[in-house]
Amino acid sequence: WARHAPLILAIDALKVQRNAVILGHSYMPPEVYHGVSDIVGDSLQLALAARDVEAEVIVQAGVHFMAETSKVLNPGKTVLIPDASAGCSLAEAASLAEIEALRAAHPGAAVVCYVNTPAAIKAASDVCCTSANAVQVVEAMPGDTVIMTPDRHLAANVARETGKRVIPAGGACIVHERFAPEDLRAWREANPGATVIAHPECPPDVVDEADFAGSTAAMIGWLRARRPQSALLVTECSMAANIAAELPEVSLTRPCNLCPHMQKITLEKILACLHGMTGEVSVAPDLIAPARRAVERMIEIGR
Ligand code: 13P
Ligand code: SF4
Repeated sequence: WARHAPLILAIDALKVQRNAVILGHSYMPPEVYHGVSDIVGDSLQLALAARDVEAEVIVQAGVHFMAETSKVLNPGKTVLIPDASAGCSLAEAASLAEIEALRAAHPGAAVVCYVNTPAAIKAASDVCCTSANAVQVVEAMPGDTVIMTPDRHLAANVARETGKRVIPAGGACIVHERFAPEDLRAWREANPGATVIAHPECPPDVVDEADFAGSTAAMIGWLRARRPQSALLVTECSMAANIAAELPEVSLTRPCNLCPHMQKITLEKILACLHGMTGEVSVAPDLIAPARRAVERMIEIGR
């Protein structure tokens, strides 16, 4: 922290000067999450927070789709991302052509897009969802068949919890698809009585091995409420670093899967973007209203 202190102080001063707030995702490194973020949370919590921001500038300490979502929900604000190349394998996988093909193959089925998508995909979907409310959103759709894009694992996990037939698109998260059920079983054997919690972007056979699956904020909430003696966190490993300080009595095992995109956001880049007001995120004006409709519909169903 001694190394980070001068940067944190400089960022704090610039935040006041620029009238800026920093929204930090659960996967930010601790010096960003605890050091400079004004609001932290999962994708849903950050979207809700972005909607209510009164400051002039939003710095998105997260990946590009999160910054776009902030812009869509609060278009009058200047939204900055410290590294514009901080993407997401799911957002890259989403395609308009695939949505069109799935709609043609399943006429009348609603298209639910994961929040991990570009604004153009949100605009072409009926509703958006996050890992925190995907089950509720899918349940709320009319008819018995729902199309879900782009995460095939989330789609399979949600399908099991709803009465709907869920037609998946073909994407996956490069961090969560690396986990394997054998590894979780081996860990449990080596740590009898310990708890396993996982993100629903993991394949279903991995989620089957977990005691709890939920969004990043839900996983943190679950640990806060139950405080198990030891837990395996089957997700991006920065999150464990962020909660370790808060829950010293919980022994956390974190298989070190880092998201290369989230890791691009550093204190140095936050300082540089606030200093030069660089990395402004824009969304094509004709996409803002339809993308916002999909996100607002999600918020009405499950916040
Ligand atoms: P959450 O919405 O659960 O924070 O997840 C976002 C994400 O990108 C997980 O990989
Ligand atoms: Fe995308 Fe996976 Fe990284 Fe989350 S962890 S931002 S889903 S690549």
